[in-house]
Amino acid sequence: MTGPPRGLAVVGAINVDLVVSSERLPRAGETVVGEGPQSFGGGKGANAAVAAARAAADVVLVGAVGADRTGAETLDRLAAEGIDVAAVARLADEPTGVALIVVDAAGENQIAVGAGANGALRADAVRAALEPRVAALGCVLVSTEIPDEAVLAAVEVAAAAGVRCVVNPAPPTLAVERSVGRGALLTPNAGELEDLLGRLGQGSEGGDADRAAVLSRSSGAPVIVTRGGDGVLIAAAGEIAELPAPPATVVDTTGAGDTFNGVLAARLAAGDELRRAAELAVAAASISVGTRGAREGMPTAAEIAAAVAA
Ligand code: RIB
Repeated sequence: MTGPPRGLAVVGAINVDLVVSSERLPRAGETVVGEGPQSFGGGKGANAAVAAARAAADVVLVGAVGADRTGAETLDRLAAEGIDVAAVARLADEPTGVALIVVDAAGENQIAVGAGANGALRADAVRAALEPRVAALGCVLVSTEIPDEAVLAAVEVAAAAGVRCVVNPAPPTLAVERSVGRGALLTPNAGELEDLLGRLGQGSEGGDADRAAVLSRSSGAPVIVTRGGDGVLIAAAGEIAELPAPPATVVDTTGAGDTFNGVLAARLAAGDELRRAAELAVAAASISVGTRGAREGMPTAAEIAAAVAA
């Protein structure tokens, strides 16, 4: 007997994060001296893939690294998480992407990404990776630190196959604007939601719930607004639901959004209904912020289940 397709494809950036921990974040033009640097795995695509794999999904990652030692080590670490990295391009003329991150005493961060190979990920490579696999997928998750054409290719392949697509618009780009109306579920934070509505010329009166409702109406798909320690808002089918986040010990918020998106997509791929998938994803993100490094605190499926049951 064959069951429903359950696999998850994650399309997005793969980085090495260089992290300095300081009392507070620097202002423009200011130097702060902190602890570190520490090096961690990063990139919104790779991070979400790790979160999904730890949540027990079958994950294929689509992205690009440099054909260098850093790229090889990066992929080895992702493969050790059980992620299928065969579809990741190794680009000879590009370095692996790097993110420079400062984390303050409250766990908030500042991030600048040098895209490297991520910026050279081609739409045809995304199509070539997804098209042979899409029939076995329950969800495609896309984030936007890669070229617009690559994002759109992923959204289009998923839409053509009738496979659910989740777009994490971090940051909102032209590709996100163009994805609206193609069936993708969007997961902006409050700032990204406002930015995206501005780009779509739809104004931003009212609060997050009103804005989420506007975006959901215009995209014809659910919108989930991530609100950090305040949980998420879900706008779907004309209704708004609020899911609070459990109390969390915050050491480092880097990767919390990726954890949310990875677990959400993993659970949607497994057939959970939206609210249940979001509830598990919020619990996972709340756990993830307790440890320094984007991926270090991401929980297993058993840890997520225990947190939700508590
Ligand atoms: O979302 C966190 C991620 O953003 C970091 O890991 C960094 O690499 C940037 O992509």
